[in-house]
Amino acid sequence: MTIEHVGTIGELRKRLDATRADGRSVGFVPTMGYLHDGHASLMRAARDSTDVVVTSIFVNPLQFAANEDLSAYPRDLERDSELAETAGVDLLFTPTVDEMYPFGPVLTSVSVADLSQRWEGASRPTHFAGVATVVAKLFSIVGACRAFFGDKDYQQLAIIERMVADLSIPVDVVGCPIVREADGLAMSSRNVYLDREHRLAATILRRALDAGLRAAASTTDPDVVMAAMRDTIATEPRAELDYVAAVDAATLAVPDRLVGSCRLLVAARVGAPRLIDNCALVLD
Ligand code: PAJ
Repeated sequence: MTIEHVGTIGELRKRLDATRADGRSVGFVPTMGYLHDGHASLMRAARDSTDVVVTSIFVNPLQFAANEDLSAYPRDLERDSELAETAGVDLLFTPTVDEMYPFGPVLTSVSVADLSQRWEGASRPTHFAGVATVVAKLFSIVGACRAFFGDKDYQQLAIIERMVADLSIPVDVVGCPIVREADGLAMSSRNVYLDREHRLAATILRRALDAGLRAAASTTDPDVVMAAMRDTIATEPRAELDYVAAVDAATLAVPDRLVGSCRLLVAARVGAPRLIDNCALVLD
């Protein structure tokens, strides 16, 4: 089936209300475009388990701080449309900023306390309110659906799951595994900013996670695990560490002891882009 582009909220609502009235389920994959195989994996997961798949492409100004890369964020709608079509997307929702925020800056904002302040939130204080607000708005536009998010942005996923639970939004949130390049670098739209030298150096994030996992095989002390991750990043002069963390997978807080379902997180600037990565750490 050929992919169809929809630019307005009214048209998308009409289409998806009709889909549900027909008894067909809606799968939703929100993105900011410049799509890669990580995004495609979410679209394929949606294709496999829902009847009509909608993807949004919207570079959301609310989630970029003044000093961040909003205007430089990479865009290529033609290529994105082809990738989405190949991955099985039926409807591509591409609203303008005016369509999404017709009154200018929003007066209403969704903020998920506590989970939003840690890690990424400490480095980017307004970021997650911008994400939660646009995702709540997109959920309200798309309506009842199953929505697919990547583990790649683990904190974002945790925040959205909590927002949906707290506000009883009729959306079933599904987390999907991180898709990586052959050398372990997590796919990201921002990887295009890595020159050759920094592209090679960028594998240090995955290697830091591996060092954390190795350390966790013989200790439950989060400080020891985090030190192993930090020491690994320090071996790469092109990487500037932002944070490493060994956290409880639900609260995102560093526990006294690593037990049960945990997560290792890392963020570092490698040349121009700031990169993030994470992995599961499950302990008895
Ligand atoms: P964006 O960075 O475009 O990512 C869209 C979705 O793709 C997110 O759920 C993200 O976790 C997932 N994703 C990105 N890289 C991935 C990878 N290597 N493997 C698996 N999934 C990956 O995240 C956003 O956009 C925005 O914050 C958004 C939720 C759309 C709100 O504006």
